Amino acid sequence: MGFPVMRLRRLRQTEPLRRMVRESKLGIDDLIYPMFVVHGFDIKKEINSLPDNYHLSIDKLIEECKQIYDLKIPAILLFGLPKKKDETASEAYNPQGIVPQAIRAIKTAVSDLIVIADVCFCGYTSHGHCGILKNGYLDNDLTLNLLRKSTLSYAEAGADILAPSPMLDGMVKVMREVLDENGYQNVLIMPYSAKYASNLYYPFFKEGTQSVVSFGDKKTHQMDYANANEALREVALDIEEGADIIIVKPAITYLDVVYRIKEKFNIPVAVYSVSGEYAMIKFAGKKRIIDSDAVMLEFLTSYKRAGADLIITYYAKRLAQILNENN
Ligand code: PBG
Ligand code: ZN
Repeated sequence: MGFPVMRLRRLRQTEPLRRMVRESKLGIDDLIYPMFVVHGFDIKKEINSLPDNYHLSIDKLIEECKQIYDLKIPAILLFGLPKKKDETASEAYNPQGIVPQAIRAIKTAVSDLIVIADVCFCGYTSHGHCGILKNGYLDNDLTLNLLRKSTLSYAEAGADILAPSPMLDGMVKVMREVLDENGYQNVLIMPYSAKYASNLYYPFFKEGTQSVVSFGDKKTHQMDYANANEALREVALDIEEGADIIIVKPAITYLDVVYRIKEKFNIPVAVYSVSGEYAMIKFAGKKRIIDSDAVMLEFLTSYKRAGADLIITYYAKRLAQILNENN
């Protein structure tokens, strides 16, 4: 049966009809908001390359977290900027470090807000690489030892979910072991399972965490952006090692990967719409080249259409405001 009996435009005539047959919808429950915490007091300093996102001292972070909770955003993803960086990332596992302090404060003030801690070392090393270097090469197993220590200090501080980010072999396995040995069976692990060596992270390192690598790149651990089959192998291993939710990162250029993961595995998938995606849209908007809110909604909806369950985005707060207004 075809035209003229079938007319697909009939379904698109009016907004109420379009709403009724809409296949993918953004929801506040899908959102995870990344936040950057710094030492000090009364600090709320906009990150120039990520408009409407801030470096926050713990007191200001708490104020923001209350707003985020009131907007009904379920979770934040926490990044810390340490006082000092060194070769061995010692601030990364200091139980009195900036992230454990922030986690304790949030869990005291806004206990129902889910706190996800990003677990990596690039923000804590003097060279900006994601762990311990041996002759310039990121040493997998030495870095796993660091990962054990920061896992424990973040879990002790009260993190609900840990998101290991260095793309090390065995990272989920060692984290699950440490957590279970220490009575943290209920702490979730949400690894960045398919994290690509992308050019879209620059605003994040340049200003967000101030951790641009002093030499080289991250291609020996982050994935080659030409590969998708390999992402399925990464996800399969992480599931076997105990992952609860997996992350694909970045989002916009990897929707085929998201689609294939959802086809193959029965696990919640989060996409990380990274700093470069956000910055490109926001700055094009500021130049009045595009309508940044409209483009953002289109991008984020495409992640849901591809199969993502959750979206980590610098736009979460604004989107929650828009979605709350429309309800
Ligand atoms: C690593 C980490 C990075 C990002 C989040 N966690 C940098 C990297 O993977 O090399 C990038 C996020 C973004 O660009 O928004 N700790
Ligand atoms: Zn890293």
